[in-house]
Amino acid sequence: MSGSAHRNRCGNPRRARPNLLKYAMRYGPNLLEEILRRTDIVQLVGRRVKLTRRGQAFWGCCPFHAEKSPSFKVENSRRTYKCFGCGKGGDAFRWLMETEGLSFPESVERLAGEAGVELPKWTAEDEAREEKKKSLYDVIEAAAAFFEAQLLESREAKEYLKGRGLDAAAAKRFRLGYAPAAGNALIAHLTAKNIVQDDLIAAGLVRLDPERGARDFFFNRLMFPITDGRGRVVAFGGRGMSPDAKPKYINTGETEFFSKGRLLYNFATARPAGLKAQTIIVAEGYMDVIALVRAGFEAAVAPLGTALTEDQLDLLWRVAPEPVMAFDGDEAGLRAAQRAARLALPALKPGRSLRFAFVPPGEDPDSLIRSQGASAMKAVLDAALPLAQVLWRGETEGKDFSTPERRAGLERSLADIVSLISDGKIADYYRRDFEQRVFEAFKRRTPHAGERARPWKGDRAGRGYQPESVSPAVKASLLARRGGAKRVKETELGRLLLEDPEIACRHGEMLAALQFSDPLLDRLRQELLNLAASGSRLEKGGLENHLVRAGMAEVVERLRAQGARSPADEGTDFGEDTDARFLRAAAQLRDMAELALERSRALERFKNEATEESWLEARRLLGIRSED
Ligand code: UTP
Ligand code: MN
Repeated sequence: MSGSAHRNRCGNPRRARPNLLKYAMRYGPNLLEEILRRTDIVQLVGRRVKLTRRGQAFWGCCPFHAEKSPSFKVENSRRTYKCFGCGKGGDAFRWLMETEGLSFPESVERLAGEAGVELPKWTAEDEAREEKKKSLYDVIEAAAAFFEAQLLESREAKEYLKGRGLDAAAAKRFRLGYAPAAGNALIAHLTAKNIVQDDLIAAGLVRLDPERGARDFFFNRLMFPITDGRGRVVAFGGRGMSPDAKPKYINTGETEFFSKGRLLYNFATARPAGLKAQTIIVAEGYMDVIALVRAGFEAAVAPLGTALTEDQLDLLWRVAPEPVMAFDGDEAGLRAAQRAARLALPALKPGRSLRFAFVPPGEDPDSLIRSQGASAMKAVLDAALPLAQVLWRGETEGKDFSTPERRAGLERSLADIVSLISDGKIADYYRRDFEQRVFEAFKRRTPHAGERARPWKGDRAGRGYQPESVSPAVKASLLARRGGAKRVKETELGRLLLEDPEIACRHGEMLAALQFSDPLLDRLRQELLNLAASGSRLEKGGLENHLVRAGMAEVVERLRAQGARSPADEGTDFGEDTDARFLRAAAQLRDMAELALERSRALERFKNEATEESWLEARRLLGIRSED
């Protein structure tokens, strides 16, 4: 038990989810009580919030949400603070965790120090290890100081810095250094200070070469010291000085007190700045962070050469509810953004999200700030997109959703994304958000007849998607069907009407309810209805003359020609009278029209919903079997 407790306390001082029980056991409830009892919470909170006494309690405006009249209460008798507006409340430990981003053990240590309460030691073994580690911190600190001094000695390193727009003040502020090229300069320097080889290895500063023995881990590199949450140097990043240095950066390997997935570059400085500004920016590299801080964005951090981890997300969320991730606008940056977006999903909590800012392609924050200044960077940050939109973009950008299968595929991937969200409420909202986006994207616009359907593409922000109404294949099959059977029926009806015009009198209602898709035939239909309604005598020869005079010679001609090719009494209806044949053909045409209407409704629904179910329905109505 001693080993892991030890690690919890010291090895990972910024550990994201401290095991509270373990700490409580170490300190004991009585000790924690003692610390709280000796802490003047009114005075502690009063350092940040203006409080006025009312009765036994003190009141002020809540620091956790914007308000004008005080609903934030602090009481020494209860040793708590509580906001009746937003509900935030707790004891003095919680207060430090909430307002200064400290971990629980850190706040215990801080308040114990202020209250003059001595914390019990861990076991003797732990204590020994603690001492040892203390000395290792000193070793790394000595290395940092050595690298800093070497920077001042190296013309080449100073030139390099200058070339990257960094002056001596910047180097000092970030404690930049230089690891000399000449063999094992650090080993020589620290050994002269009586530091033993084992400690150098444990600190990650020296590696053992199987043939040549102890070697400096870093040489001929510009050095970026990496600090833990308290600002102690625990590791380094080193950048090769020549443009073709491979690898460009190397970082200290995992050591007892450095885990690259648990720390963020510049976090110790960015945390207080971020708490104050209620925002924190995550860039991709060391140079970006330095450029951001120098441009006035002090709450800037970067992961240490890996994709952002869950532990790092927790660190960020302790500072601000919506950290802004600044990614390069190139392919790799977009991919990294997608990875980070997905990673955040299981950890989302109400009010806890990420936003994504994209630097123009070919730039990173460092180069953008250098070429276009802080205002350009600010514009990029101000335009940061919400997490949901970045995920949507990742699924849709540059993709073609012209087929139902692809749309269904999109819905599937969106559902997969939602399933990664652990918080039920948030998952609900995401589901709705995505449904809305799909709806908007697919309903946007239907091409007019004859207009070429465009593939579905949008810009990077996910705007301006232009869904194609129906895939060309579906459309073609629809046209084929419409042009086929329906026209045949209409022609048949037209010929029956010419043959026996009195049908228009006897079955006027039926004729009126029909509609012919062929405009010439439909004009004929209407003319017959008019004649019937006006009580004209309808007789075959007279009607044809009338129609020709009325400018409908063409349709008469066509029907006659078709009649000659295939007699009106074709097919199975041989011998049937014209009434029966008319009624049957009319009913068939009416069914076809209804089916067409149903089909177009189904297609419309499919266009709007793009669900598998609506697609199956449309397919059934269109009589499409294979995937055509
Ligand atoms: P980039 O390749 O984007 O470099 O790596 P950069 O930050 O723009 O650096 P400069 O401007 O060329 O100096 C982004 C980050 O990825 C890590 C480093 O932390 C770097 O800051 N990295 C990169 C490595 O760890 N190793 C590498 O070889 C390259
Ligand atoms: Mn760069």
